[in-house]
Amino acid sequence: MPRKLHIRTFGCQMNEHDSTRMVDLLDSALGVECTEDPAEADILLLNTCSVREKPQEKVFSELGRWRPFKEARPGTLIGVGGCVAQQEGERIRRRAPYVDLVFGPQTIHRLPEMIAAAERERSGVVDVDFPEIEKFDHLPAPRVEKARAFVTIMEGCDKFCTFCVVPYTRGRELSRPFDDVLAECYELAQQGVREVTLLGQNVNGYRGAMEDGTEADLGLLLYYLAGIEGLDRLRFTTSHPNEFGEGLIEAFAELPELVSHLHLPVQTGSDRLLARMHRNHTRAEFLDKVERLRTVRPDMSIGSDFIVGFPGETDEDFQDTLDLVAEADLDHSFSFKYSPRPGTLAAEVPDDVPEAVKQERLTILQNRLGQQTMEKSRALVGREVEVLVEGPSRKDPNEVMGRTPCNRIVNFPAPEETVGSLVRVTVTEALPNSLRGRLSREAAVERAV
Ligand code: SAH
Ligand code: SF4
Ligand code: F3S
Repeated sequence: MPRKLHIRTFGCQMNEHDSTRMVDLLDSALGVECTEDPAEADILLLNTCSVREKPQEKVFSELGRWRPFKEARPGTLIGVGGCVAQQEGERIRRRAPYVDLVFGPQTIHRLPEMIAAAERERSGVVDVDFPEIEKFDHLPAPRVEKARAFVTIMEGCDKFCTFCVVPYTRGRELSRPFDDVLAECYELAQQGVREVTLLGQNVNGYRGAMEDGTEADLGLLLYYLAGIEGLDRLRFTTSHPNEFGEGLIEAFAELPELVSHLHLPVQTGSDRLLARMHRNHTRAEFLDKVERLRTVRPDMSIGSDFIVGFPGETDEDFQDTLDLVAEADLDHSFSFKYSPRPGTLAAEVPDDVPEAVKQERLTILQNRLGQQTMEKSRALVGREVEVLVEGPSRKDPNEVMGRTPCNRIVNFPAPEETVGSLVRVTVTEALPNSLRGRLSREAAVERAV
């Protein structure tokens, strides 16, 4: 009987992707089978996030829920990985001694050995090293069944925004070699993948070593990836407005494979706070990037991240944020209440915006952002969009679901054979979290080059 594995994941797409890789790895090393039910799992893994206090708190409550499963079946292994594990290390086992494994985002490839050691020695194993990017060389080649795949191109972050814990949990920026990324994407295309999202905390900081001793930046990588037969859609996330140079804007101008959608976190519209956050750019510079992108791509949909209630945020600062949202005409965005993270620079100054004010600002901002997103969805009604069909619709097996270039989910009646292909769909209805549509033409979309 194969052992059963249950993984719960918090945090960003990097973490989601790491969890997928862990499943692949443990499947090839130990032949495990995944289960949704933690009660029947032999191996329970929690992939954690520490970017705000809330996801961090969930770690111990989840572990508390898992504890009885281990008491009922003492052979059960419990592991904690991800960013909280990286930061807390041994302290996790002090607070929850029934945890067997603690590992960081850079040591997931060592999981099979860690599991073997924990079982052999019947004692806890903690591995929160930051080895040089070796994890990529030790993970099995990705296996996919879907039309969409994620590829990590770099790890870590050197930006040290004053509020952010990521540089401490993920380590310094390290890019995967250019040829490795290319080979992985080629392999995915061979397996039928049509859309690749390049992942990293700061992908436009990509500097991939090339065979000839030079380095490739993100723009160059995108040109090469666009040349891979079968890869029709390219995305990348997350990028920092600072390193968003001419090369990338040119890539949007020239590469039809790059979708007209971008997530570009700005955090605040206030210059004063941008400086205090060490974002190293101004509001005008951000808006200028947005404008230039829309010059080369008039239909560019841009989403962002915002923090409200950063220390010292005044009503004027917040108004600057609302103005920026209106001016940039943003699409789907994320917004959060500032949460001081231990070890970061901002945590050393008082968290002085009262909770009630943070909450009020968050509600106002989220309403505005939500309205903008809905307006954009409504504007799509009656229009024809390109959809990459991912699989059967969750609600109705006679329908399929796919995504538009701007990452909206569309449900529409279509034969199963359309799964994995690009089709034209006329949008018939805009719902709060998805669109409904009608197939315009069943044939895969031919690109005008
Ligand atoms: N690498 C990305 C985002 C990293 S974290 C970037 O540089 O933009 C994702 C988002 O979480 C951030 O964009 C920010 O909006 C939010 N965030 C990070 N630290 C936070 C904190 N201490 N409090 C509240 N939100 C935070
Ligand atoms: Fe955090 Fe800033 Fe790095 Fe993004 S760029 S991960 S917000 S430090
Ligand atoms: Fe969270 Fe770590 Fe990602 S802190 S947002 S899981 S990099």
